[in-house]
Order: sequence, then structure tokens, then C-alpha cells
Amino acid sequence: MIRYLDEERMFLISTDNMAYVIKIEDSKLTNIYFGEKLVFDFDYIPEIKKNIFINWSWNYELSDRSENNYANTAFKVLYHDGVRDCELLYKNYEIFDNKLKIELFDEFYGMKIFLFYEVFEHDNIIKKYYEVNNISDQKINIEILKNSLYIPILEGNFNYLKGMWGHETNIVHEKINQGIKSIGSRTGNTGHLFNPYFSIDDGADEDNGNVWFGLLGWSGNWSIDVHKQDYEYINISAGYNEWDFNYILLPNESIKSPELIFGFTNEGFGESSRILHSFIRKHILRKIDRKILYNSWEATGFDVNESNQMKLAELASKIGIELFVVDDGWFGKRNDDKAGLGDWYINKEKFSRGLFPLIKKVKELGMDFGIWVEPEMVNPDSQLYRNHPDWILGYESRKKTEIRNQLVLNIIKKEVKDYIIDFMTDLLSNNDISFIKWDFNRPILESGFMNKINSKSIWIDYVESFYYILDILKRRFPYVIFESCAGGGGRIDIEILKYADQVWTSDNTNPYDRLIIQKGFSYAYPSNIMMAWVTDWAGKETYPLKYRFHSAMLGSLGIGSNLNNYSEEELNIFSNLIKDYKDIRNIVYEGDLYRVNMTDYKNLEIFEYLKENKEEGVAFIFQNPTEFDIFNVYKIKLKGLNESYVYEIENKLYSGKSLMKFGFYMQFDSDIDYLNMKKNNYMSKIIRFKLKKNI
Ligand code: GLA
Repeated sequence: MIRYLDEERMFLISTDNMAYVIKIEDSKLTNIYFGEKLVFDFDYIPEIKKNIFINWSWNYELSDRSENNYANTAFKVLYHDGVRDCELLYKNYEIFDNKLKIELFDEFYGMKIFLFYEVFEHDNIIKKYYEVNNISDQKINIEILKNSLYIPILEGNFNYLKGMWGHETNIVHEKINQGIKSIGSRTGNTGHLFNPYFSIDDGADEDNGNVWFGLLGWSGNWSIDVHKQDYEYINISAGYNEWDFNYILLPNESIKSPELIFGFTNEGFGESSRILHSFIRKHILRKIDRKILYNSWEATGFDVNESNQMKLAELASKIGIELFVVDDGWFGKRNDDKAGLGDWYINKEKFSRGLFPLIKKVKELGMDFGIWVEPEMVNPDSQLYRNHPDWILGYESRKKTEIRNQLVLNIIKKEVKDYIIDFMTDLLSNNDISFIKWDFNRPILESGFMNKINSKSIWIDYVESFYYILDILKRRFPYVIFESCAGGGGRIDIEILKYADQVWTSDNTNPYDRLIIQKGFSYAYPSNIMMAWVTDWAGKETYPLKYRFHSAMLGSLGIGSNLNNYSEEELNIFSNLIKDYKDIRNIVYEGDLYRVNMTDYKNLEIFEYLKENKEEGVAFIFQNPTEFDIFNVYKIKLKGLNESYVYEIENKLYSGKSLMKFGFYMQFDSDIDYLNMKKNNYMSKIIRFKLKKNI
């Protein structure tokens, strides 16, 4: 709900459990509350007793660079006469249902800002962003463009996702110290090093305590800064990374900040994740029919051809695969990563009859067909590059650095956009393709410039061009499912999820490493978009097949193993595990996720998925090697159940209360040879539980 309290000059934005309050104080907008919903309106009205030693401002709703504002700057401009001081004064507001628009105006310089808020009452989420309008006849130089938040605590922890290629989305819990801590990306994409997720807590754990959390939507350079100073509340700025940022707003132009979604819970990290998951599922993602895919990349690499793909397709269909995907190597002179990127015609040496016979076969086998592309890139050894050396991003006076032997196309240019849209349109209209894996395998290092007046805007224009291309393709081919990939998990954020239905989580498909990566991922994003494959990454023998499956079943399952290397008997195990997954996948896709940390058993990782009506769930239990691996019976407690329901687990009945308070005994399956068990044995088990009716 959104209300304006006239007398108090306050905007009260509230959800079922949270409130966010903005006040007009001397024509400046200040944030006076963000947290648990209180009882009365007057609960939010601060009794302001300013410390007499403090003469600075801190909690501006948009932390602009006004001279007395000591909080980290979220909005900064350079006016044509050299003035940098902002005087953004409140003008008026409009409320339409669950939306609020507030107008701020720097009258002298003709700059108008509209702050937009949208409240999702039962989802406990608020979305905000703003638009800067130049209504003067001079240019306005925008130097910082971010959103601000204030967390009403003096001490706390900053929780974020860090990583690198092959090791994305590791959760970090860090005490907030004095000063500014910044995470972000400068590589032109969302990036591997950090993900635009944050949460702040004042001593929460998985199930209890206050957590303020949010996600930023931008698939280019972004940063999230956390600022702490004595006496003041924790300040957050989240938006475009100010590194190499400068946006010149000409008269009558406008620019939008990235969107920030945020929320609060007093039920710990677990609940904060469930709130984000459910919001993303309900309000960002399209409803699609998710398929279990087979991708031949780890089996055949670049060496794809009609016959080896047909053979894999046959095996894939036998084990129950629903979508067969050909990865890199099907086009141009693409025999390795040194050549061919950019030449999007079918390689006739590998597919002499085109893709039709393979697609026909895949369809006959009852599967859909999907394909890999990397449209924004080019190998210098390609026809495209030879024809258009001027289509590359970079500076004319500087050498262009190749990474993975490739350069980045300047998709801001109209002809480059058209080239990509045209070849994708041909590919998708001439072939029965229902899935695209869209890759981006190198960072943008030499950004170059579009024109000399506004060279730094390239970082924004690139990403906007990328969204534009995807938008056109999505409209033309609404039935095609898109997966966002950037050398693994380098392009995962809530803005790309408006275009892509799912993401490639990481190139690292080691099932144990994946538990760490996927656990971090689950702080921010739901499991239905988290692609996870069973592969032979660490060799067939290192991890039991069941463990590899269970790790991948925590998300949207895919298979990447070389099926040619498995016996009939082993392929039967694949089939059975895929059947198991089909039985439970709706709970994994749509259910509430509980990360069950058992303090007594540090070697166990447990992920529980529970249907919204709490009538059915599934728990994945992993035992990872530690020094003491001699135990194989554990007492496991579940979470989130209905206390008075009776649940059945392996033919035994329990009340929800007893499962949550006391737990149940669980033993890993006896197909593991405990006597000869080596330290490196990785065990796992799926436990299903269901409401028992009519007892
Ligand atoms: C990237 C992707 C992989 C694969 C290769 C193909 O690394 O993340 O999954 O598609 O490119 O070159």
C-alpha cells in the first residue's frame, strides 16, 4: 500500500511485513524508515533530536551531491557553468494503486528527476528507480547515477556474492567497518567477480533475525557500495559503476537508473531468499515449460557433426531427455576457439545437409532442438572480421586485446545490430529451433567510443543495444527459450531475466564445487533458472553418478556427460534418476527452498524444497568428506512444515512438529560399500515427504 500523509508530509509505502517511509523535510526528500512494519502511522514519525555536533546531512532519499551531504554520493552532475552542487527540491507526487511517482526539480538548471516506486504488497518487495530529464537548453553531465538506501542500524554485516570464472556466486558474510566497501563489475557484463545482490543483517542466521536485502538489475558495469560512518545508519548506493562513467544529457533527453528491488524480513537469510525467489518467479520470469536438456559441449567439444550428434541424440532420448542442444562448433570454420566466430552459416563439412536432418531426427525422437550462439563476438580469423574490421570495439590508436582469440563487436552501430538480428532471424525462421544458449565469452576491455563528445556512454549504450537485440528476437520468436551465458555465470541479474528464461550458472560442473556455487546462487535467485548439468568433469569415477545427479537436480537439470562412454546398465541409472527428477521437478522449480544447516553435522549439506501448500517436499542430503566419515546414520530436521500435518517418510509417519523439532533418522543407501569406503566417497540421498491424508 502507498499513502501520502498530508500533515506529516510523509510517503508511507508498506507491504504485509515491511514499511519504507520517505519524508519531505525542508523540500528535501529524506528516508526516515526501512524495516519491519510497525503498528501505527505515528510509529514512523521520528522525534528528531539532531546531535548538536553534527551539521551534515545523511539520509537523503536520493543521496545527491549537495554540499552538506556526507553519505556516499549516489547522484552527481556537472552543470554547464561548472557547478556541481545539486538542489533537488520536492515538487509533487502522484499515486496510482501500487505505484508512486515523486518529482524533484533543480529549477535553476532545468533538471527534473522522477523517482518511481512500485510496491508488491504480498510479496514483500519494493522496486525503485528514477529518471533524469534535461529540460534546459544546456547539456548536463551526469557523473554518478545510482539508487540509495539506508538501513536503520549502526552495526551490521554485509553479505554478498563473489567469485571468478568457474567459481561464481560464493556467499560472503562480512562485518561492516567504517568507510566504504564496494563490489561491482567493470567488464561490460554483470561479471563473474561479484553478482549484484546484497543483504545487510544485524546478527541474523538462516532462520532468525533482521535481513535487509536487494538485487540490482543491470547487465553491464554496476557497483553496490556500503557506507558506514559513526553515528549514522548504514548507507547503500547501487547503480551504474561510476568507474569510467559519464553520461551527457542533451536538452530534452532523459536517462533511467537501473532498477533496484529490495525487501526486509525478520526471519533470517532463508526467508530473504524465498522472498526474492518468489518475486522473480511471479513478477519477472515468463511462464515456460522447462525441459530437461542434453548439451553435447562437454562430450564432443568443437568436434560436432551430423553423425555424432545424431548418435548422442538417440542415447539422450533413451534416457528421457526432452531438449537436445548443439553447443559451439556448428558454424563457419569453427574447429576450435581460434576461428569462425561471427560467421553464422552452417559448417558444411560438419553438417553437409544443413541442420535439417539432425533437427528432424531430434524431433522424431520426441525432443526439442536447441543451439548455441555468441552473436556479440568475432574471431579475427573470420569472414566477418575480414569484411568489417571497423565493427570492433576499441580505440583506433590502440592495439585490441584478444581474449579466447576473440574481439567484441560494436553492437551500438546500427549495421552490427541489424547483422545480428538478421542472422538470428534467419536461423530461427529456417530451422525448428526452440532454445538458444546466448554466450558472451570475454570481458570488454577496450571500450572505444561512439563519438568524441560522449565517449564514456559506451558502457550504457552497449548494454541497451544488447537488450534491444534480445527484445526484438523475443518478440519475433516468443516460443524460443533463451539461456543467458557468459563463460558460465557472467551475466546473471534481474534485468537479463526479463529477456532470458534461465542462466548457465557456471562452466564448473564439478558436482561438489557446484554445491558451493549453487548455494550462493540460491541467496539471490530461484532454482528453476539455475541450469545444472550432470557431466564427467572430474572423470567418471571421482563422484558417484547419483551424487552428480543429486547435485544437478537442485536446479534445472541438464545432462552433459559423454553418453557414448556409458554401458547399457549405467544408462539405465541415468534413466531412473531422470525419472526421479521428473517426479519432483515441480517442487524444485516452484517450491520454497530451505537451506538446512545442521550444526551437529558439518559434513552435511541439505537443501529442502517444500510446496507452497506445505503438503509435499523433497530434501537433498549430501555428505561431503571430512575427517570423520565413519558415520552413515544421521538425524535430520526439516524446516517450514505445518506442525500439525502428518507427513510420511519412507513408510513412517511423523507430525510436522516432530520433524522440525526432533527430526528423523536417515541412512545413506546400502549400495555404498561402507567397509571399503575411502575418504573421498561422496554420498547423497533424496528424501521425499508427503502429507498423509485420512489417517
Ligand atoms: C562458454 C560456455 C560453455 C560453452 C563454451 C563454448 O565457455 O560457458 O558452456 O558453451 O563457451 O565455446
